[in-house]
Amino acid sequence: MKSRVWLLSLFAAVAMTAVAQETKKVFIYSPNERAGLHIAQLLDNGWQEIGQLCSSDYGTWGVEKKMIHPSVTRAKDGTWRLVFQVNDRSPLFAASYSRDLVTWRPQDYPIVVTRNCLSPVVHPAGDGFEIMYTSDGNHYRVMASNDFRRFTTGERVEDVQQLVGDLQIEDLIELDGKKFAGQIFELKEQELAHINQFFAERAADGRKSSERMHDDAKNPLMPKQPVTATLTVTSQEKAISDKLIGIFFEDISYAADGGLYAELIQNRDFEYSTKDRREWNATTAWHSTRPIEIATEHPLSFNNPHYALLWPQDTLWNEGWDGIVVETGKKYDFSMFVLAGGQKQDFLIQLVGQDGTILASSKLKTKGSDWTQYATVLIAKKSDAKARLAIIPQKAAHVGVDMISLFPQETFMNRKNGLRKDLAETIAAMKPKFMRFPGGCMSHGQGIENIYHWNHTVGPLQDRKPDFNIWGYHQTRGLGFFEYFQFCEDIGAEPLPVLAAGVPCQNSDANAQGIGGQQGGIPMEQMPAYIQELLDMIEWANGDPATSKWAKMRADAGHPAPFNLKYIGIGNEDIIGTVFEERYERICKAIRQKYPEIKICGTAGPFHTPSADYIEAWDFAKKHRDLQYMLDEHYYESTGWFMHHRDYYDSYPRTLNSQSSILNSPKVYLGEYAASTRAKRPNVETALAEALYLTDVERNGDVVEMTSYAPMLSKDGHSNWNPDMIYFSNTDVRPTPAYEVQRLFSVYGGDRYVSTSLNIAPELKHRVGASLVCDSKTGHRYLKLVNALPVELTVNVDGLTIPAGCKTEEFCGQPEDQKIEVKHDETVNGTIKLPPYAFRVIEL
Ligand code: AHR
Repeated sequence: MKSRVWLLSLFAAVAMTAVAQETKKVFIYSPNERAGLHIAQLLDNGWQEIGQLCSSDYGTWGVEKKMIHPSVTRAKDGTWRLVFQVNDRSPLFAASYSRDLVTWRPQDYPIVVTRNCLSPVVHPAGDGFEIMYTSDGNHYRVMASNDFRRFTTGERVEDVQQLVGDLQIEDLIELDGKKFAGQIFELKEQELAHINQFFAERAADGRKSSERMHDDAKNPLMPKQPVTATLTVTSQEKAISDKLIGIFFEDISYAADGGLYAELIQNRDFEYSTKDRREWNATTAWHSTRPIEIATEHPLSFNNPHYALLWPQDTLWNEGWDGIVVETGKKYDFSMFVLAGGQKQDFLIQLVGQDGTILASSKLKTKGSDWTQYATVLIAKKSDAKARLAIIPQKAAHVGVDMISLFPQETFMNRKNGLRKDLAETIAAMKPKFMRFPGGCMSHGQGIENIYHWNHTVGPLQDRKPDFNIWGYHQTRGLGFFEYFQFCEDIGAEPLPVLAAGVPCQNSDANAQGIGGQQGGIPMEQMPAYIQELLDMIEWANGDPATSKWAKMRADAGHPAPFNLKYIGIGNEDIIGTVFEERYERICKAIRQKYPEIKICGTAGPFHTPSADYIEAWDFAKKHRDLQYMLDEHYYESTGWFMHHRDYYDSYPRTLNSQSSILNSPKVYLGEYAASTRAKRPNVETALAEALYLTDVERNGDVVEMTSYAPMLSKDGHSNWNPDMIYFSNTDVRPTPAYEVQRLFSVYGGDRYVSTSLNIAPELKHRVGASLVCDSKTGHRYLKLVNALPVELTVNVDGLTIPAGCKTEEFCGQPEDQKIEVKHDETVNGTIKLPPYAFRVIEL
C-alpha cells in the first residue's frame, strides 16, 4: 500500500513538472495612448484580451496620463521592467517594475539630458538595464540599476546602425479584428493562471461592488417580507481608538475663503491674479465708476504688493462673496490700511442693499503718513442677503488702500479674525476627535512652487503670503495655521496638520523645464531647508515662548500655552515612487530625531488595495516601521463596494514587535473616504453604506486609529467635488445624511469594543450592521444598528438587556433621499424593530 502511494506521488510530481514546463504566449501592448498597458493571451482560436496591467500616472489629468510606445523586458530572475514615453515634450520617461505583471510598482520618471525623450526601449544589460531613446533624431543610452530605482541621465550614442535594430523590436498581432503592435512573451502556465485569476477576481469584485440599494426592488436576493436577526453580545472586549471619528478640512469648493473663514470682503488684499483663475486680476470683486488704479510702488507688505489708489469722487465697491449678508441689529468690524501721505482723510463706509438702501454707515477719519490701519464698527439698520460694501473718500487726495476687511462681530466663539458661526457650530456639533488640515491636494499643491508652507500662513494678516489654490481660486491665508489650531482647541479636536513630503501633487502641470507631475520633487539640496520648516512648525505649536522664537510668535498671536500637537501627516496620496520615498525618509528621520514624541502619519496613495501606491506604501511602511505611527489611506467608492468590503481591516496585522510593545505594522488613518452613487450628493443609500462600514471600522478600532469623511464643505455655486458632507450658501448650512452618520458615530463613540455576532441569512449579512462600544470614562455603552434592507428588521438581542427609556437617535428614508430627519426617541420594552433603510443609535 505504502509503495502505491509513493508511486502515485511520483506520477503526480512528474505530471506537475511537465505542466510547470509548459509555456503560453502572451502579448503585451497598449491599444492606444490613453489605454495603458494591456495583456492578451493566445488561445486555440487566436488572441484574446485579458485586461489592463497598468496605466500612465504622469502629469495633469486630461492633458497627460499617456503611455506611448511601452517597452517591457524580463530580468533573469523573472521580474519585469517597463519604460514608456509620456509625451513629445518632456525630458523624462516613465519606468516601472513588476514581479508578476499584474501589480506594478508606482512609476518613476527619470529625468534625462535632452529636452524630450522619445520611444524608450529597455533591455537587460550587465547587472541592470539599458534604456535607449531618441531625441531630435539622435540616440541616447540611459543605464538603470537592477532595482530600477537609479538611472543615469543619458548619453548620446553614435552606433546608430545597431541601435535602430534594437529600437524596432516589435511584434504584430490581430485581436478582435484589429492589428496591434506590442511584444510577445512566453509565460509559464502557472504564471498565466495567476494573471487570469487576478482579473477574474477583480471582475467578480466589480460585479459585487455594483450592487445598489436603489435597485433593490429588482434584486431577487432582497427580501419582500420583514426579516429577523439575532444579535449575540459576548463578554469579550478590546481596547479601540478613542479618536475614530474626526474631520478633514480642505480649502476646496470655497471651504475657507468665502466659507468657514468669516471675512466678508472678497479680494481684500487686491492680490487676485491670473494664477488663481485666468480671468481674475487685482480688481476682481471690486467696482468703481472709473477703472480702479492698482499700484505696487509702496506696498503694505512684501507679501502683499498690490493696493488700490482712490480718488475723492470714486466710490469703491466690493461685492463680497456673491454678496454680503447683512442682518438688522448686527455689528460688523470694518478695517483697512490707508497710505495717506501725511494728509487727513475722511471716508464714508457703508453697507448698501440691492435696492440702494443704506443698511449701515460709519465715518472713518485717517491722518497718518505711512501705511496705518483704521477701524470702525458698522451697525446694520436693515437686512439684506446680497449687500455691497462702499468706501467713499470725502476729501480731495489720492490715497492708497489695502487689506480692506469686514467681519461680523458674531463669529464662532466671538474670536477676532474668526470663523463663520453657523458653519463652525455645525462642525463642532459633530464633536470630532481630531481635525486634519489644510488638505488634501491643497497641501502638496499644484507644482513645487505651490506646495503649502505653513509659515506663510501665520503672523499679521497683511504679511501672510497668499497663493493660488490648486482648486482654481485664491487662498488669502487669513485662515492659517494659528486659526486652524485655535479652532481645534475650541472644538476639542486633536490637530492633525498634513504637509507635503517634499513632492507636489502628481497631477501637477509641467514646470518651465517641461517636467510635470511631481516635478522631480523639491531638489535634494533644498530639502534641509524644507525639513527645517517642518521642524519649526512643531516648535511653533509646542515650544516654550521663553526659549523659542517660533513659540514666541504663537504667544504673540495670543496663545502662550502650547497647542500640544501630537500628530503630523507627511504627504498626501502621493505616487510612492523613488522621488517620494527618498524625501519622506529624510523628513521623518529628522522629525523622529528631534521630536520622538510626535506621531507621524504616512500616506498610501489615492486608492485601496491592490493599487500600486497602496501596496508600495504599506511595504515601505513595514520596512521603515519607526518612520510612521500610522498610514493615511484614501478611497472614494461605490455603495456596493463599501457594503461588500466590510471585512477590509480584518486581516490587517495585529502582531506586536518582539523588541518593543508597538505593532509590527503602522495603524491606519482612513483619511479620505466617501460612498457615492450616480446621484453624486450624499443620500440615505450612501450614508447607510458608510454606517455599515463604520460598524466594522469600530470593530477594527484596534488597528484603525482615525477616520475622516472627505471633503467636508462645499459652497453652492463653487463646488469642485461631490459628494461632500456639508453644503452651504451665504445664508444656510445643509448637513447631509453623511454628516449625520459621522456625527452619530462620533458623539456615540467609545474606547472599548464589545464583541457581538449577528445571526441573519448569509445573503443579507452585508446589509445589516451592529456595533457595541463603551466609553470607559463615562461608563456609557452605545449600540449602533444599521438596516440597509428594503424591509423592516427585527433584532433580538441576546446577552444584553436593553431597558425601556434609553435615549435613541435614528434616521430612515428611501435610498435616494438627500434630506433626512434625525429623530430623538427612547427605547420601549420588547424587541428592537428598525424600519427599512434605517440607522439607530441606542445609548445604554
Ligand atoms: O477630498 C478631495 C480630494 O480628494 C483631496 O484633495 C485629495 O487628497 C483627494 O484626491
